[in-house]
Amino acid sequence: PARRRTAPEIQARKGGTPIVSLTAYNAAFAPLVDPLVDFILVGDSLGMVEHGMDSTLGVGLELMIAHGRAVVRSTAMSLIVVDMPFGSYEASPEAAFRSAARLMAETGCGAVKLEGGAHMAETIGFLAARGIPVMAHVGLTPQAVNALGGFRSQGHDAAAREKILGDAVAVSEAGAFAVVVEGVVAPLAEEITRTVSIPTIGIGASSACDGQILVINDMLGLTDRVPRFVKRYGAIGEAVSKAVSDYAGEVRERAFPADEHVYKPRG
Ligand code: KIV
Ligand code: NA
Repeated sequence: PARRRTAPEIQARKGGTPIVSLTAYNAAFAPLVDPLVDFILVGDSLGMVEHGMDSTLGVGLELMIAHGRAVVRSTAMSLIVVDMPFGSYEASPEAAFRSAARLMAETGCGAVKLEGGAHMAETIGFLAARGIPVMAHVGLTPQAVNALGGFRSQGHDAAAREKILGDAVAVSEAGAFAVVVEGVVAPLAEEITRTVSIPTIGIGASSACDGQILVINDMLGLTDRVPRFVKRYGAIGEAVSKAVSDYAGEVRERAFPADEHVYKPRG
């Protein structure tokens, strides 16, 4: 039986064949994704795409644990990374350790992800030294949507680019095993990838990153408004509408259930 990929294996792929990843949140989609990617992120984007929230700020540890468990249970090959939700790690390295330990112990995931650059470096080092592989996340960090003034691309002036590059270097030096680079101008994503020693996982970044990630609901066509950086690889939303509409019609016509769907008495 195949063994799950590990954080060190992902880290070792810096500069190699691109690392493939997607988010997944449940036991319906995660097993379909599992054999085809290198890691699965149980992202706090689930608050928006699975729970109808308008940001990720309302997602808590219990919700991440519930979805993380579902994904770990229903997969066998991919590394599973679970997002640390807003409010569960920022206050101190100790608070972050307690939250990360719960995520790992209660879900069985192999790594956690947190948002932040230089200001989270101490926390990343604290977790890494205590056996918790940490993926960092720089650029457009959705938990900071209120401070950033919206979900908008980052790195449009030299000072912003210098700050984000500094963030990526800081998390790499602090011991993160990989870093998500989200929503930044392509030349910056390329410079970060050349500069840091850990794999960069791009989303709205550049094909030069060491890997890519997308929110699965977006790429499958299950969400109606998507940012410019999303490519739709499927039309699953349309497929669902068609199936539900066919079902509704057949129920109304009493065409479903048919003979083969009903039980007949044996005697
Ligand atoms: O929550 C999420 O889905 C993420 C990815 C988009 C990187 O953080
Ligand atoms: Na996230």
